[in-house]
Amino acid sequence: MSDVSSSSQDLSTLLLDVDDLAAVLENVGVDFFLDELIRQLAFDIGRFDPTAIEHKIRTGFNYDTPEHGLIEWMPTMVVGDVVSVKTVGYHPQNPVERGLPSVLATTSLYDTNTGGLVALTEATLLTALRTGAASAVITQAVAKEGPITLGVVGCGAQAVTQIHAISRVRKIERLIVTDVDQSTAESLAGRLPEAIVAPEVTTHTEFDEVIADLDVLVTATSVEPGHGPVVTLDHAPEHLHINAIGADFPGKTELPESYVRNPDVVVIPDVIEQCLAEGEAQHLNASELGPDMAEILERDWHALRSQQTIFDSTGWSYEDLIVASLFVAHAVPLELGTVVELQRAPTDPHDPYETLR
Ligand SMILES: NC(=O)c1ccc[n+]([C@@H]2O[C@H](COP(=O)([O-])OP(=O)(O)OC[C@H]3O[C@@H](n4cnc5c(N)ncnc54)[C@H](O)[C@@H]3O)[C@@H](O)[C@H]2O)c1
Repeated sequence: MSDVSSSSQDLSTLLLDVDDLAAVLENVGVDFFLDELIRQLAFDIGRFDPTAIEHKIRTGFNYDTPEHGLIEWMPTMVVGDVVSVKTVGYHPQNPVERGLPSVLATTSLYDTNTGGLVALTEATLLTALRTGAASAVITQAVAKEGPITLGVVGCGAQAVTQIHAISRVRKIERLIVTDVDQSTAESLAGRLPEAIVAPEVTTHTEFDEVIADLDVLVTATSVEPGHGPVVTLDHAPEHLHINAIGADFPGKTELPESYVRNPDVVVIPDVIEQCLAEGEAQHLNASELGPDMAEILERDWHALRSQQTIFDSTGWSYEDLIVASLFVAHAVPLELGTVVELQRAPTDPHDPYETLR
């Protein structure tokens, strides 16, 4: 993480916007960046040490005025080095009402020597990339080996990086997608990298009929709290792996409760407390959960490849720190970004009025 630490007297902040991220992705290639991120998540999370990495459960403001939405903050600290805080807004009406993404985010990185803000980065695309990469690492660990048929429910922004990241760990032979908004389902093909197989677009009713054909399923919807499930799983194959990424709010779940409660289905939480509060695991208590994401990445779970598994992805602040650090690590040698002195210090540290004189 040394790329983001400042010297004791330097309080400058590196601003990295979406054009800087685009420049990084253009420079190294999106596939290369995703592959690197997938490896980094697997490596860092597989060696997760709570004495070296401290994370707080995310909290924030959930509101219904002016409309249903939330703004939350997600902090993680690398002890003795850096604190990362992602601030993320979720406003599911944004795409339809304002032409904006549902999820908007920024990440701040602070030096734990000084408390100074060393970097402030865009994190909307970073969130989509890390959420896709997180699904990819778990898919790689527990899904059926070889080519897969992938199903996707919810074809918005996250669906793009989910499909792309999964395509980096499994060959997608067939891709079947659905969305309550047919036009979003139909536009998905045009938002995917060209090398990915063209999606077959179905209605919800048709989708329920193809569940039996799937090896991996992604649910990435903006379904409202209390309005799930978004899919029926009566004919789920014995080995189906699900990346359930949309349940990240109290009362908001995407999968049928009976399926999640089935003791033969292994539920893999990313962050246990968070999943029990806001994930698919809202239906469960802690003793009913399977191994968490860190345990899955710590060792081999070959037997799970032939079982029904659910990755309960609510989004881990540690993933945000890892992806932001990777972004900075690429941006610095490319001399991207703008250095600003948001926090220029007085020469006399006891004189806050010095800058007025
Ligand atoms: N787990 C994580 O780390 C993580 C990260 C980012 C976003 N998310 C969550 O992922 C979800 C999707 O985010 P996004 O950025 O793609 O949102 P988005 O608004 O871009 O797309 C959501 C899509 O879901 C569709 N949809 C809503 N209800 C549906 C239903 N019942 N069946 C099928 N489709 C339905 C909408 O029409 C829309 O196209 C959100 O709930 C968001 O909070 C999770």
